[in-house]
Amino acid sequence: MDNAKLIRAAFEARRSAYAPYSKYRVGAALYGRDGKITGGCNIENSSYGLCNCAERTAFFKAVSEGRQDFEAIAIVGGIGDGDETRDYAFPCGACRQVMREFCVPELFRVIVARSEEDYREFTLSQLLPDSFGPDSII
Ligand code: THU
Repeated sequence: MDNAKLIRAAFEARRSAYAPYSKYRVGAALYGRDGKITGGCNIENSSYGLCNCAERTAFFKAVSEGRQDFEAIAIVGGIGDGDETRDYAFPCGACRQVMREFCVPELFRVIVARSEEDYREFTLSQLLPDSFGPDSII
């Protein structure tokens, strides 16, 4: 999967962000081993604790549609609109743990981007070392 294409899908997903409270709009694009891309955005709530991150929206959408095996996710986020952001939007701890459930941490790629050309790439194991996962409780 071409990183630029995945980042473009993340910016597309970001257009649907519902973030009237924080104004911090996030988009994610999750790439599955089946070749499909699933987009997700953050969805806030007037009861603030119920806000859902873009990454988890993408994961929950994909898993609910029968996919459980993923290769990469691109994430973009920031105040304002458009297809460039000021900063890289790193995934929160809760989202890193949800990613952990459905991937091989040493192989799964997390791409945080400011534009299609300007991005940083990590493996999940770099962002969530010594993690707790499905194999921990077998
Ligand atoms: N947010 C995400 O969508 N992903 C993250 O990894 C961190 C935070 C959202 C949640 C909330 O709607 C807004 O960004 C500000 O925290």
